[in-house]
Formats: sequence, C-alpha cells, structure tokens
Amino acid sequence: MYRLKHNISSTLGLIILYIHITDTRSSVINDLALGFTRLPFNKSYYINHKPYNLPLEERYSFINGVHKLWVFSTDEPLSRCSPTLPRSELFINGYIYFTGVWQFEAHVFVPNGTTGVSLMQVFGGYPHVTNTTLMVRVYDGNLYYYKYEVISSDMYDKWFRLNVIRDVEGDTVNVYINGVLKFEGQGRGGAMHYFKCGVYAQDQDSYYMESRWKHINIYKKSK
Ligand SMILES: *[C@@H]1O[C@H](CO)[C@@H](O)[C@H](O)[C@H]1NC(C)=O
Ligand SMILES: *[C@@H]1O[C@H](CO)[C@@H](O)[C@H](O)[C@H]1NC(C)=O
Ligand SMILES: *[C@@H]1O[C@H](CO)[C@@H](O)[C@H](O)[C@H]1NC(C)=O
Repeated sequence: MYRLKHNISSTLGLIILYIHITDTRSSVINDLALGFTRLPFNKSYYINHKPYNLPLEERYSFINGVHKLWVFSTDEPLSRCSPTLPRSELFINGYIYFTGVWQFEAHVFVPNGTTGVSLMQVFGGYPHVTNTTLMVRVYDGNLYYYKYEVISSDMYDKWFRLNVIRDVEGDTVNVYINGVLKFEGQGRGGAMHYFKCGVYAQDQDSYYMESRWKHINIYKKSK
C-alpha cells in the first residue's frame, strides 16, 4: 500500500514537474516582458499630435480604455507650417531616450479600408524624409516595415498584440506580432528616440484612416 501510494505520488509529481517545465518554457518564449521593467503609463506620459486647426475630440477618443485615432487625407498637418501629411498620433513624450533597451507594447485594431499610413513609429534616425528608426505601416491590410518588407499579412478588423523592442547600443529594432518575432531590423542613426502610435498618412493613403489602441505598456530593460 505504501509502495503503491509512493508510486502514484511520484508519478503525479513527475507529471506536475513536466507540466511546470513545459509551462515555463512556453512562457519564456512568449513573455517579452522578461528582463524588462514596466514603467508607469497614463495621460501624463503622452500628448496628442493632430491637425492643428481641429479640436482633439474631432480626431481622437478614449473610451473604455481604447484610444481611437482617426484622420482624413485632406486634413491639415500637426502645425501650420509643417510640410508633413495629416496625422492623429499619441506622442509618448514621457519616455524620450538616448540609450538602453526599450519596449513598446499594445493591442492594435485597424479597420478594413485604412491604408497608406504609419501605425507606429520609433522616432529618431536619418534620412530626414521620415526621421525614424522604424515605421510600422499598413498597406491593404498588411503590416510593413516602411514600404520595404511585409511584417504580417491580413491584419484588418482584428485585435493583435504589437511589441517593438529598440536596443540603442545593440542598434537593433525588432517587431513581434502576437508574441512572435516577425521582423528584425537595424537602427537608422539619430540620437533621440521615442514611440508614437496612431495614424500618420504616408503615401497612397485612404481618405479615412483609423487605428485603435489598448493596453499600451512601455518597458525598459533592467540593468
Ligand atoms: C500617472 O502616473 C504617475 C506615476 O505613477 C503618477 O505620479 C501620476 O499621478 C499619474 N497621473 C495620472 C493623471 O494618473
Ligand atoms: C474589406 O472590404 C472590402 C470592400 O468591402 C472587401 O472586399 C474585403 O473583403 C474586406 N477585407 C477584409 C479583410 O475584411
Ligand atoms: C526631419 O527633421 C528635419 C530636421 O529637424 C526637419 O527639417 C524635417 O522636416 C523632418 N521631417 C519630418 C518628416 O518630420
């Protein structure tokens, strides 16, 4: 009896140990926050960029934790003399960085029809045509690294998780969709960096552009 009990309990123990190991392994793969510290994020950490001549509520709402940003291709830029195209973006000015490893995370929704637009930027870099290290753009439902390379296809009308990790000293920028590494890129120069998200017209942009964002988190790699 003792022996049987012992065998059962050690078998159970092994099963539990096995479950624990496999569980830990998969969470290591998917847990992009591992080794990072999550920083505070609320309204004090961002400002809105929007057509200069319009009140914010005509191009942005924040309801039930969802930031909704939209813009029309005929809108004005963010300031009167700016040569840039229209945008409605969150500029995460609370975390401007020059060194270190930083991570942006959010759940994103892009409605069918929104195209020719940057959804997310890592600001800082040359050439001055964009001044960015990274743009995640959408063209016809596919996410792109600028207009160079597809990051992920068929992304309209669904929530997905976007993680972007910028390693300044390592000079890399990596993009994860739903926890899976989909793009590995290089830096593009520029000393000062920060994250932006929303809609920023680029080329062949649709008349109406919109994206929605929730669970925005900013992380910094622990020393
Ligand atoms: C935002 O977070 C900071 C840091 O946790 C806190 O000091 C501040 O009061 C918060 N502000 C708002 C508007 O919630
Ligand atoms: C997007 O809308 C167009 C036009 O209504 C439709 O043909 C297309 O199938 C839609 N795409 C998706 C991914 O729903
Ligand atoms: C990039 O930066 C340069 C120099 O500050 C500026 O003249 C230019 O307008 C910027 N371009 C964009 C697209 O923001």
